[in-house]
Amino acid sequence: MEFKQAVEKRTSIRQFTSENIPVEDLKEMVRLGGSAPSVNNSQPWKFYAITNQDILQKMADVVAKKIGSLPENQSRVSNHIKKQTEWFATFFKDAPSLIAVTMSNYESVLEKGVTLDHNKINEVRKHPDIQSAGAAVQNILLAAVDMGYGACWMSAPTMASKELDEIFKTDSNYETVAFIAVGKPKQEKMPKAKKPVDEIFKLIN
Ligand SMILES: Cc1cc2nc3c(=O)[nH]c(=O)nc-3n(C[C@H](O)[C@H](O)[C@H](O)COP(=O)(O)O)c2cc1C
Repeated sequence: MEFKQAVEKRTSIRQFTSENIPVEDLKEMVRLGGSAPSVNNSQPWKFYAITNQDILQKMADVVAKKIGSLPENQSRVSNHIKKQTEWFATFFKDAPSLIAVTMSNYESVLEKGVTLDHNKINEVRKHPDIQSAGAAVQNILLAAVDMGYGACWMSAPTMASKELDEIFKTDSNYETVAFIAVGKPKQEKMPKAKKPVDEIFKLIN
């Protein structure tokens, strides 16, 4: 598939067939994710592909519990909003695979020469670690489209990342920053309309 075609075809897929994804395909998606740019080429990531349905269900239960425990505000729709968020944070339980993106601390070159600590440098550089993770996630989403799958970037489950990490994560130096649900789309979905380029582009000449 042409690059532009994959970019324009990609849309968030949240409903999947029950068809399993061969592990080689998951590995290939992660390989392409790992070829993304990263701060200082630190490649500070590890990816876990979770395909065990019992584990996915357990993870969804933990996320649902976390969202359920969030204090409601005065709004009449508060409970409804929580329920809706719960679905957007847990639909991965019906996906054939969920990829967890975990990140470790990178060492910034600046850290070696100034008194700013790692967290401060990360803050003033607008979180290059998270930016790197985003680049890897986007590569995985596009790889999924190219390989005939559909996927959805998910940050909502990370609300329960501490509890989730205990379920699947094996390396304590890494923090889970995003998830990607992947599978064969249940139905064809039209990509969402995006802003016209003239609205988002400005040339400073
Ligand atoms: C950082 C990030 C986090 C997201 N988290 C979630 C999520 O937790 N659950 C979900 O259903 N979609 C999530 N999405 C998908 C967005 O809702 C989706 O990209 C957006 O509505 C645009 O639709 P499109 O991807 O089909 O173009 C996330 C997207 C991004 C970029």
